[in-house]
Amino acid sequence: MHISIEDAAQLLLEQHQVVAIPTETVYGLAAPLSNTVSIQKIFQIKNRPSNNPLIVHFANYEQAQPYLINEPPLFRELTGNFWPGSLTLISPCKLDLVPEIVRAGLTTMACRVPAHPLAQQLIQRVGPLVAPSANPSGSPSATRPEHVESDFGQNFPVINGGECQQGLESTILHFIDNKWAIARLGAITDIELEKVLGYKPIYLSSSTSTSKPICPGQMYRHYAPKCALRLFKGEPSEIMEYILGFAEKNYPKQAEVTYLGSLHNPFQIAHNLYHVLRMLDQRGIKEIWVDMNIPKGKLWDTLRERIKKASIK
Ligand code: TXA
Ligand code: MG
Repeated sequence: MHISIEDAAQLLLEQHQVVAIPTETVYGLAAPLSNTVSIQKIFQIKNRPSNNPLIVHFANYEQAQPYLINEPPLFRELTGNFWPGSLTLISPCKLDLVPEIVRAGLTTMACRVPAHPLAQQLIQRVGPLVAPSANPSGSPSATRPEHVESDFGQNFPVINGGECQQGLESTILHFIDNKWAIARLGAITDIELEKVLGYKPIYLSSSTSTSKPICPGQMYRHYAPKCALRLFKGEPSEIMEYILGFAEKNYPKQAEVTYLGSLHNPFQIAHNLYHVLRMLDQRGIKEIWVDMNIPKGKLWDTLRERIKKASIK
């Protein structure tokens, strides 16, 4: 059900409800930072484990600043360059101002300033909003209002912002061992970050970090449709009935190919990825082979990681 900014403000401020909001990355399931009743509902609706903290969305740095303590070095440079936008920064925060349920008991807060004008308007009207991606835990994120409605029902309140421009979640940076490191690959790449940091941040993938994962959500299966994704490198084989591939490639004649987009345009693939994964389920496809012969670097690394995570059962 499409609602206005004013309807959303009333549901959030007067009725302890949650609403879905567009951002430039993916749709979020929003509740006011101070309203722990609504925040509980987010965990229930998503079936999200309580040890998985939420990102807090602010209108700008000035609104976030009172919640932060001991901001790590270069925090202001990062926010100055990438906010508003798809960069989430983890920082120590004031424990009395950020409810424990939001932090999942950690002493840090993940914060971001979305660029989407409707998200901005709602935050300016209601104040800081927590918002995980608007999908049941583990399944592909929602990048269109109809994705939210198909996951949570036609009556679920959604602010309609059309298709999300980027289509992949924000990049998450964490300050560890005296350097910023990437806790989740995202729309902003290490090359863009290097220009501001003066060094290339390393990616703390869950497989490389030995101790507790930095970003608890990364422990879980993610972004996965019901359809089993089987990955292949090298040549496709004759046994492949369904293939997820790229416009400029040739595939065996017997295969039915669904195209992710062009190998010359990773942004288009990012924009479409979750929609295409969701369509596989709508069409009832049980198994599909994904062409992983894709370039290295930049957004391709994020796309590769998302597809790999979506393939884990
Ligand atoms: O693009 C995005 O970031 C979207 C839009 C709606 O803003 N949001 C999003 O939220 O992707 P979610 O909840 O699906 O993913 C947030 C990730 C989770 O993996 C969570 O574990 C991690 O951020 N996270 C949140 N707070 C954290 C903290 N204090 N320390 C470490 N990781 C944190
Ligand atoms: Mg998510």
